[in-house]
Amino acid sequence: MSHLLPPAPRRFAGPLRALASALLLSHVAARAADDIVLADFEGPSYAPWTATGDAFGNGPAKGALPGQMSVPGFKGKGLVNSFHQGDASTGTLTSPPFPIERNFIGFLIGGGANPEKLAFQLLIDGRVVRSASGPNSRPGGSEELSPESWDVSEFLGKTATLRVLDDATGGWGHINLDHVVQSDRRPPGLRRDVARDVVASHRYLLFPIQHGAPSRVVTLSVGDHVIVRNDVGLAPGTPDWWAVMDVSPWQGQTLHVKVDRLPEDSRALEAIRPSETLPDAASLYREPLRGQLHFSPQRGWNNDPNGMVFYNGEYHLFFQHNPYGWGWGNMHWGHAVSRDLVRWTELGDVLMPDVHGPMFSGSAVVDWKNTSGFGKDSKPPLVLIYTAAGNPTVQCLAHSTDGRTFTKYDRNPVLPQVTSGNRDPKVFWHEPSQRWVMVLYVELPQRGHTIHFFTSPNLKDWTLASVTDGARAGNYLYECPDFFELPVDGNPRNTRWVLLAANTEYAVGSFDGTRFNPEQSRLPGHRGKGFYAPQTYSDIPARDGRRIQVGWFQTETKGMSFNQSMTLPLVLTLVSTPEGPRMAFNPAKETRSLRNHTRTLKTSSLQPGATPTLVGEAELLELEADFEPADATTTFHVRGATIAYDAAKQELSVNGHKAPAPLLGKRQRITVFCDRTGLEVFASDGLCYVPMPFQPRPDDLKVSAEASGAPVRLRRVALHSLRSIWHPKP
Ligand code: FRU
Repeated sequence: MSHLLPPAPRRFAGPLRALASALLLSHVAARAADDIVLADFEGPSYAPWTATGDAFGNGPAKGALPGQMSVPGFKGKGLVNSFHQGDASTGTLTSPPFPIERNFIGFLIGGGANPEKLAFQLLIDGRVVRSASGPNSRPGGSEELSPESWDVSEFLGKTATLRVLDDATGGWGHINLDHVVQSDRRPPGLRRDVARDVVASHRYLLFPIQHGAPSRVVTLSVGDHVIVRNDVGLAPGTPDWWAVMDVSPWQGQTLHVKVDRLPEDSRALEAIRPSETLPDAASLYREPLRGQLHFSPQRGWNNDPNGMVFYNGEYHLFFQHNPYGWGWGNMHWGHAVSRDLVRWTELGDVLMPDVHGPMFSGSAVVDWKNTSGFGKDSKPPLVLIYTAAGNPTVQCLAHSTDGRTFTKYDRNPVLPQVTSGNRDPKVFWHEPSQRWVMVLYVELPQRGHTIHFFTSPNLKDWTLASVTDGARAGNYLYECPDFFELPVDGNPRNTRWVLLAANTEYAVGSFDGTRFNPEQSRLPGHRGKGFYAPQTYSDIPARDGRRIQVGWFQTETKGMSFNQSMTLPLVLTLVSTPEGPRMAFNPAKETRSLRNHTRTLKTSSLQPGATPTLVGEAELLELEADFEPADATTTFHVRGATIAYDAAKQELSVNGHKAPAPLLGKRQRITVFCDRTGLEVFASDGLCYVPMPFQPRPDDLKVSAEASGAPVRLRRVALHSLRSIWHPKP
């Protein structure tokens, strides 16, 4: 509740009052009196405060207002935010009179720096006796509220009012305020540029992280050299989890850790410590919401898969990683490897933000002919091509000859900014023209989402070859393009090129080495939710020849020290349909190596109206169903999820989310993978792929099947319990 205590009745007057305050002071010396919250702005209105003008709206804001950057650092759910109707609005917000009963008034303040026009003021007898303003005086900056306080001991016993003034109309013409308290202890303020030297005595440096803590700029340097700068939600006290930085390259050296701002009572800087071991190593990969079939990073946030390449017998999976937070930010390239596409070993980050900016998405290739000259001792180099998203936003290279240590090219960038919305280079070797091709997403002011094609003899020098133009040519394709050639129905003499975007919408056409000519456009890819920015593997050996894709699986895991994951490995094919060639997604056969026990249903039919037939029970599972549904609806209950196939409509529904799924003659085949964080459902031989974030109840292990409307003939229903990819022995 927003409140301000009404003036206390005057119990003492004259000498009695002096005695009382002497008593009060001696009492303070012994034990500080409780704080008095003057206003915390949690209610729907400002009452009993009164507002004039339009800057303050009708009541406290709940955070950022339309058009405003995010507003961190306020307490509870509400705050004063005078950005109503933007910066141009003005007004005042005034408290009722109240007695000053403590030595200090503390508050949280943010917004523009303009002491004349944007101020939080203390008035006594109509005179401003204390005033504070926000920190921002130029474009950029932050909306964050920070703690400040006034010593008001000289006014003890006096009656005062508080006023928030917004008389500013230009940039940063607003003020943020929250949590005004009277206290006998000086409320902790903010220290700026606090630093500590830590010797890199062990492999890791650990940082205490708290969800929702205000973001601090943490700069790590050795001597004059800045290693990295990150935005970190440092925990002031007990952390939710520890973020890990591998500092082995600076072993034995002194690391200078600087934090831009920290409340005086924060213990975060002291808590940063070296460690030889990973924190919580025993519980790693055993956390309650750790996906057991899907890759997720040990700690922090992931989004897009990056640099997917097969090199030296290993599948590499790089990924957009925030090692220092549960949400997006500080983009690094994380790195994991696998020999079978399902069991992954995370190796640690390979690309850290640098002077060119944070490390955004990109791809990787094996430079077999060493066109780049990065090879060594006749070993072909592995080359990463990525976006450094600073100002300007540019395309860069890094290289390796062991798949473990990566060196950024010392003449980065290799491609200057086209527009600030250019990113996510996908590079491949085009055999017929004997050149590298880069497919780059470029947002053009007039033409919208374009894909630019560049060519290069050596990965370092790039020439623009063509730009997609118009919706048919793919101008709806937004970020993270992928581009590859696929045979139709497996026929190598009948191929098409597929240009695919982050949401998996795609176009099918031909490519002459410089220009993509679409014949069919704006085709829908996956049919589910929470699948984005997939990428296919480069350099899969010709004898394998598959086009293997992994996507970002948006599986939110609240309360964990990690967030999001990757899908299972998918094999992409082009299948001819009456409408033309269409992309199909199927689970890679490697997922079969996870099968543990298999139970096959003996029943040969499902009768409508009967109680659901139990198929079995499993925690991690793959369900395969091959059936003839007539015009019935066939429903599979999988650990609380409902997967129903309506044969009359030829429609699949996964937890109510509907997707077209054509019958295969009289048959339908459905495969369901169920993990702790999500489902992946395949129907119509991959023409219908429905990924779906979902968290089954840990105690609900049942899988059952039922029919409605008509009997369903079952050809084969098999339930495989699966092994964890992290703990192979169950
Ligand atoms: C897609 C994306 C990419 C970008 C990356 C940044 O999810 O926005 O376009 O490179 O994520 O993390």
